[in-house]
Amino acid sequence: MKHVLVTGGAGYIGSHICKSLFQKGYNPVTIDNLSLGHKQAVKWGPLIQGNCGDKALLLKLFDDYPILGVIHLAALSNIRESHRIPLQYYQNNVGATLNLLEVLKERRISYFVFSSTCSIYGMPKKVPIDETHPKCSINTYGESKWMVERVLQTVSKSHGLKTATLRYFNAAGADPDGEIGESHHPETHLIPLLIQTAMSKRPHFTLFGEDHETEDGTPVRDFIHVTDLANAHVQALEYMITQEQNLTLNLGTGKGYSVREVIDTIEKGWDLKIPIVSGERFPGDPPILIANAEKAQDILGWFPQYSDIQTIIETAWDWESATAIV
Ligand SMILES: NC(=O)c1ccc[n+]([C@@H]2O[C@H](COP(=O)([O-])OP(=O)(O)OC[C@H]3O[C@@H](n4cnc5c(N)ncnc54)[C@H](O)[C@@H]3O)[C@@H](O)[C@H]2O)c1
Repeated sequence: MKHVLVTGGAGYIGSHICKSLFQKGYNPVTIDNLSLGHKQAVKWGPLIQGNCGDKALLLKLFDDYPILGVIHLAALSNIRESHRIPLQYYQNNVGATLNLLEVLKERRISYFVFSSTCSIYGMPKKVPIDETHPKCSINTYGESKWMVERVLQTVSKSHGLKTATLRYFNAAGADPDGEIGESHHPETHLIPLLIQTAMSKRPHFTLFGEDHETEDGTPVRDFIHVTDLANAHVQALEYMITQEQNLTLNLGTGKGYSVREVIDTIEKGWDLKIPIVSGERFPGDPPILIANAEKAQDILGWFPQYSDIQTIIETAWDWESATAIV
């Protein structure tokens, strides 16, 4: 069986990638320090508990499993927190990645998929955003991801590592079979926050700013279903293996929904009212983030299957219903 190392495989997106890998005949091996992830989300292969920057642990792991390639998701990813504790973000997201890359070089691992983000683009100069858009992140989190992207460009040339850099827009939804889903602590993502409020697990939802430069004044985002994201990772890995080429791709749908539209979809679909409280707009919050994802479609033949807003909300709702606590 072909083993693929998934760093952060106990997290939201990582656990869905493990399922997708398993369904396509791979054996996912997770390394996760469980700082944010959940042991019970690791269902399709072994869990090695520890830091993905721990070289001794990694060397042992590579002795124990014949790893074909690595999908690297382990990171801190809370934008607001990244302003408060920037050194921890650089240490965890960049420092640990450098150690991981050193071990990959030593063990002659050839394939590396990196989990990047649309945050690297900063305040969009044009929408939809394609991969050539200037990189001007306005937060430490995005900057840490862009740093790794630049490291990969150099390492790829000098070490012959094939890399696939995947820049996600807003991951959302849950496994359509209900086996895994989103569970961030604290939760900062729009759809689980709204659903938890609709289910009275939270007293209200705070709408941060209704004065954005958008049609209804609320921010517009491109939501991509986590299962579609997961499948793109497997396709990117297979592309690198068969084509021996590097990749840099946006992963989104090319369609945006405003926060107000998402609220309306839940309220109408489930016939309920979500208690909303008005909050201050966050400085530097981009009004519109929509991907131009044509490159992923052209190169990988990847077309989202689950990313209509209804399916995203339904799968997230089903997952949230099965989860007792916030
Ligand atoms: N969720 C989104 O919308 C989104 C959008 C763009 C990019 N991303 C990126 O996708 C990746 C996964 O995001 P997620 O939403 O699944 O987050 P998550 O917090 O659910 O998963 C991250 C996992 O990494 C683990 N981890 C963190 N640092 C580690 C370390 N040094 N060693 C070992 N394990 C470590 C955590 O315990 C957690 O299980 C992240 O790299 C994030 O930056 C997410």
